[in-house]
Amino acid sequence: MPQISFKNINITFKQKDKTLEAVKDVSLDINKGDIYGIVGYSGAGKSTLVRVINRLQVPTKGQVIVENKDIGKIKGRQLRELRHKVGFIFQHFNLMNSRTIADNVYYPMFNTDTKNRHARVQKLLNLVGLTGKENAYPAQLSGGQKQRVAIARALANNPSILVSDEATSALDPKTTQEILQLLKKINRELGVTIVLITHEMEVVKSLCNKVAVMNAGKVVEKNNILEIFSNPQNKLTKDFINTTNNSTNAIETLSKQAKFKELAHARRLFQLTYLGESAEHPFIIDLYNKFNLSASIIYGNIEFIQGTPLGNLIVAIEGQLQSIDAVKKYLLDNQISLKEINFENINVK
Ligand SMILES: Nc1ncnc2c1ncn2[C@@H]1O[C@H](COP(=O)(O)OP(=O)(O)OP(=O)(O)O)[C@@H](O)[C@H]1O
Ligand SMILES: [Mg+2]
Repeated sequence: MPQISFKNINITFKQKDKTLEAVKDVSLDINKGDIYGIVGYSGAGKSTLVRVINRLQVPTKGQVIVENKDIGKIKGRQLRELRHKVGFIFQHFNLMNSRTIADNVYYPMFNTDTKNRHARVQKLLNLVGLTGKENAYPAQLSGGQKQRVAIARALANNPSILVSDEATSALDPKTTQEILQLLKKINRELGVTIVLITHEMEVVKSLCNKVAVMNAGKVVEKNNILEIFSNPQNKLTKDFINTTNNSTNAIETLSKQAKFKELAHARRLFQLTYLGESAEHPFIIDLYNKFNLSASIIYGNIEFIQGTPLGNLIVAIEGQLQSIDAVKKYLLDNQISLKEINFENINVK
């Protein structure tokens, strides 16, 4: 059973003379322990969608199941319990500026006596790396530290789900990485499921195990992270991946160089993408041995996604390339994908 299940969710907002469909027929399953990314441009419906998890937003249509409960049917005490199960963090931290750090974390605590509350605040501040800041005020902290307070506060009631809505968007890249590492630690050590909204694919790549891409209220693609990065289907997914992938930049840079224009006329250029164990396959030599083709590497990038290597190479191929289909099939049998690059239009066909 998934921990969170969105079933055919529609959310419409009625304005004076028109209705706005913010979320359109979204179905998603999020399992316990997932760090599930929801990525999309501004206005895609990400925040509206996740607000249904604790009924901050009621869906116009559809069903939301959280930990086996149809949350459209609960109220009163059960609804309060659900709300304690789900912690939220946001881009702008939303701290209470007139209260100390300890009080900010303390504030939402429910059902805890004063003595235990104090110990719990200490434990949470320790977890987020802010021991010693109990008596400071939010204005005395950096953005990264403020977000750490917000995370401690979101964890105050031991939630099983943490929703992070653009929590790193206001932070610099180094601080972003530190906060992402903290979220990873919370996921691993406390077993908290994380739903992570972002418009940055880089964030998804470094943290999530699954991702859904949203556009204009719809989920246009969803998959595990390796599949998404190695074999994206939707145009928008490809655009998002290109923002984290240097090969597009490399193609653009190369296309401006006269030397490579010549090369592109003389030879055919291909982009090879491979994943995991296929990285061990000596395919450059195979191209020569099996097809009498010599491939020179013009650009190469190998990165690790969830511990698995994902390689991107741009190669120029020389030789009698009679049947590209046979080469393609051979490579595909070894889990290597091959796409021809048209340098004239800087397009990967
Ligand atoms: N309470 C509301 N009333 C009317 N329209 C709303 C309301 N909340 C959201 N919307 C509209 O729904 C659409 C989706 O908004 P949402 O905030 O979910 O987008 P988002 O993907 O989170 O965007 P961003 O990345 O900018 O945060 C937008 O067109 C927004 O204007
Ligand atoms: Mg939003």
